[in-house]
Amino acid sequence: MKRHPALTPLSRDHHNGLVQALRLRRVATDGDASARLVVAREFVEFFRNEERVHLRDEEEELFPVLLRHVPSQPAPLREARVQHVQLEGFARKLDIAVAAGIVDRETWMRRESCLMHTSGLRSDSSFR
Ligand SMILES: [Fe+2]
Repeated sequence: MKRHPALTPLSRDHHNGLVQALRLRRVATDGDASARLVVAREFVEFFRNEERVHLRDEEEELFPVLLRHVPSQPAPLREARVQHVQLEGFARKLDIAVAAGIVDRETWMRRESCLMHTSGLRSDSSFR
């Protein structure tokens, strides 16, 4: 399917989200506490500086346009909104963990359903 040029920035954001998700997954599998903290801190910065803007663009610009062309909210849009809330929650939790200097494995456990909206990754996990 050919994408409208206006969607290019959102696609680029999704790619950046994928990079972050892969880094989080990799460090969750292979990293020690110190590596988890570094990657978590970088994710929190990414979320604060880029992802939050992306979510707002989708919520305030893209989704209303979509809703003008459908009779009711389609399931994928509903799912995206739920994932946005989950992602905000995950980022908040990770931000607190980073501020405390402790990013334990439990902190990662909720990440999958939250992070994958931008990545398209499946939610199976090899490190649970
Ligand atoms: Fe998105």
